[in-house]
Amino acid sequence: MCGIFAYLNYRVTRTRREIYETLVNGLLRLEYRGYDSAGVAVDGPKKTDTDNNKNTTYIFKTKGKVKALDEELYKKDSLDLDEELNIHFGIAHTRWATHGEPSSVNSHPHRSNKENDFVVVHNGIITNYKELKAYLINKGYEFESETDTEVIPKLTKYVYDNRENDSITFSTLVERVIQQLEGAFALVFKSRHFPSEAVSTRRGSPLLIGVRSEQELTTDNIPIQYNANLKDGVEEKNSHNRPNDSNAINSVGDGQPVEYYFASDASAIIEHTNKVLYLEDNDLAVVTGGKLSIHRLSHEVGENPVRAIQTLQMELQQIMKGNFDAFMQKEIFEQPESVFNTMRGRICFDTNTVILGGLKDHLKEIKRCRRLIVIGCGTSYHAAVATRQILEELTELSVMVELASDFLDRNTPVFRDDVCFFISQSGETADTLMALRYCKGQGALTVGITNTVGSSICRETDCGVHINAGPEIGVASTKAYTSQFVALTMFGLMMSEDRLSLQQRRLEIIEGFRVLPDLIRKVLALDQKIKLIADELYEQKSLLVMGRGFHYATCLEGALKIKEITYMHSEGILAGELKHGPLALIDKDMPVIMIIMRDACYTKCQNALQQVTARSGRPIILCCQDDPEISQMAYHTIELPHTVDCLQGILSVIPLQLLSFHLAVLRGYDVDFPRNLAKSVTVE
Ligand code: M6R
Repeated sequence: MCGIFAYLNYRVTRTRREIYETLVNGLLRLEYRGYDSAGVAVDGPKKTDTDNNKNTTYIFKTKGKVKALDEELYKKDSLDLDEELNIHFGIAHTRWATHGEPSSVNSHPHRSNKENDFVVVHNGIITNYKELKAYLINKGYEFESETDTEVIPKLTKYVYDNRENDSITFSTLVERVIQQLEGAFALVFKSRHFPSEAVSTRRGSPLLIGVRSEQELTTDNIPIQYNANLKDGVEEKNSHNRPNDSNAINSVGDGQPVEYYFASDASAIIEHTNKVLYLEDNDLAVVTGGKLSIHRLSHEVGENPVRAIQTLQMELQQIMKGNFDAFMQKEIFEQPESVFNTMRGRICFDTNTVILGGLKDHLKEIKRCRRLIVIGCGTSYHAAVATRQILEELTELSVMVELASDFLDRNTPVFRDDVCFFISQSGETADTLMALRYCKGQGALTVGITNTVGSSICRETDCGVHINAGPEIGVASTKAYTSQFVALTMFGLMMSEDRLSLQQRRLEIIEGFRVLPDLIRKVLALDQKIKLIADELYEQKSLLVMGRGFHYATCLEGALKIKEITYMHSEGILAGELKHGPLALIDKDMPVIMIIMRDACYTKCQNALQQVTARSGRPIILCCQDDPEISQMAYHTIELPHTVDCLQGILSVIPLQLLSFHLAVLRGYDVDFPRNLAKSVTVE
């Protein structure tokens, strides 16, 4: 949705230029989350003559991508770029518009007043902003943007101006503000009244903090101050729920030189430090005097009393483009490795066994369930469609696949003996997360299939599988799809280990997995041929993708890729439905891609092909190698290596990923930043 980045250096000298660079680079890494405008708030020169020697805060905001902001920052001659700042806190944001058009005034940081007393960056949505805005307008506050976010700094100033005494702390102030907020948010606050202090919090939107220190960190766990119960100026440090005093003396920072990086995801932090702390909902992270502490705004009995500092395994080059022109292209070509990483340590090809560590303790319960419900949005939903048939076959359970938004709209009946899977690359998609909370509320066992360690779905599910595909930056999901496909099929294999009648089937699938990375390489080698097809198609308006059985999901996913990055109209059509309507679209000018592989649907697909060619259609056909019967009826063929039917969809989707990439480039579009979209959709 939006990207938050903030940087605090404490007793670590940085020039203003270096601080700008850090903030801008952080935003560049997060740009995939939103890219219609960007902004930063940094310290300006101290006012010495007036205003009690208070700090000043400067805000820079621009419409467009982060590059525009970068240029804007260096235009201003009022700030000395070479000035050394021993302590400084800067906040930054890249936006994906929800309330108000993309514009400089609607972009973040938002401010409390013209003097920028309080400035805030926000990811998420404040659902009660209209009521709060009306209240504040009534109190004389003037609003400048159309956003929901602007109520937050204004409300902060209102609470500050109406404080009972002067010693109110920044964290108390923020706590009071967020008590009034409804909706989802990750927030970072900066204030000239509390120079070099940072307060951040989250509810429903991700936020993590990277810590870099010359010193050995005094602890890998930060104790939470439960029931912070903050009173003006006095934080009740030894609340009765506090775990124990040995934890209490541990902290991060403790007056030593330290740098903190706040971000919506780890890709913005990894180049600075691999030590991170993931905030949980209702955590309030506060940095004062260089020391980081976590307050808990509400808590459940028995919850973990500490937040662990984790070591990220991610490498910087994993999130760089390397020799590729776009992240999406890089990620398509990474698929031999990403699917291998999904299988690694889980499939033993010597013993033909599959163990998903995150599920093994729940296997008995899952086997006893009444049905599996697999829920996701967009591409993640397609991964569920793609694997439904093999899951039904291997688990011998009824399997429902559901679009999260529709599932919620219907208040779908869910029971205690259901097992609900939530598929999400980001692990933060609001609809999927809401569906998860709904199913939990109904008492079902919840399983997450995610690609983002520490994400909300990861943390809130009872158990799960991490797909290990590596960071996916391109908005168009590619390698996450094939890894979700692999993970769900592995789950089917794990469930069927003791089913004698399924042993032969299991062995052929496991063998299919063994050779999968090589077969993907062979498909990727077709790139140039696919580019030539794109050369012929790129000026078309529409593109139909047709297939059935194991390839229906490929049609849906291929059409989604095409529409989201090429802006062409594209539809995935179940070939069995052709004669019930879509056939009316077919003529010699309508581009059609058909997927006809040698599987149980082969003959039926041939019938569909006859129907298309009989209407002068000129299909481009994805088929198996050496299939003259099909090739002779095709306008073009893309011949794919053959594999076991239930894995063939992993191979058949890749040409469509490549085709959409080439079409988008030829049409002159920014592949990684399609219009109107964002990588992580944290709004319903
Ligand atoms: O992060 P998630 O997998 O939950 O995201 C779900 C969809 O928003 C996502 O797959 C979207 O459809 C992609 N942009 C498609 O390429």
